[in-house]
Amino acid sequence: MNLTLKIWRQKDSNSKGQMVDYKVTDISEHMSFLEMMDVLNEQLVNSSEEPVAFDHDCREGICGMCSMYINGEAHGPDRGVTTCQLHMRMFKDGDTITIEPFRAAAFPVIKDLVVDRSSFERIQQAGGYISVNTSGNTQDANAIPISKHAADEAMDAATCIGCGACVATCKNSSAMLFVGAKVSQYALLPQGQIEAADRVKNMVAQMDLEGFGNCTNTGACEIECPKGISLENIARMNRELMKASLK
Ligand code: SF4
Ligand code: FES
Repeated sequence: MNLTLKIWRQKDSNSKGQMVDYKVTDISEHMSFLEMMDVLNEQLVNSSEEPVAFDHDCREGICGMCSMYINGEAHGPDRGVTTCQLHMRMFKDGDTITIEPFRAAAFPVIKDLVVDRSSFERIQQAGGYISVNTSGNTQDANAIPISKHAADEAMDAATCIGCGACVATCKNSSAMLFVGAKVSQYALLPQGQIEAADRVKNMVAQMDLEGFGNCTNTGACEIECPKGISLENIARMNRELMKASLK
């Protein structure tokens, strides 16, 4: 496949960015999208040009680093996959592909396609943990009865990889799908009950402080989420917040 790439280039957070056109040739349909980007960067390095900066780590859909907006969609045109799992067979020979960073006020661009998502880390630090007795009297987790339904729902919420696609997709740059998942994974389990009220209040307060917008129920985040995190998690977070504020 021969492709034209229109890529957002930005030297650093203080510089103005612009779209720049590149050509790549002989791209195999079996390559992943990041492998195609590697081919472009090799080409740029060989011609003494600055390679395109993009985030990646696991390259298997686990770490949530590969945040790219491809042809107007977070993680590109496929469903239930991250950019690193997106295959070039989703595109056709001669296609023009537009590649931009995730855009949100709370995700400032650091360079090219790399954005600063440390706002997510600060939300996690505000309450995304549980207290466990590690004094030697730790209770065996398997000795705590949990219904299959609650365990499955908690596990589904815990599959959120913190990629930020929900924020990039939302017209309000809302982080409520992410925060809803992080609150839900503990709210559904007995281990999460000790800090439950403080957790939801602190995480929502930090989310607002970071400048994320509110949810207006358009549901775009759920469609673009590579892990299929359900909007039910936002509803659960709102219920948890209501309960916490009545205490
Ligand atoms: S909810 Fe989905 S889209 Fe949002 S950060 Fe988690 S995995 Fe990514
Ligand atoms: S590089 Fe880890 S999820 Fe894509």
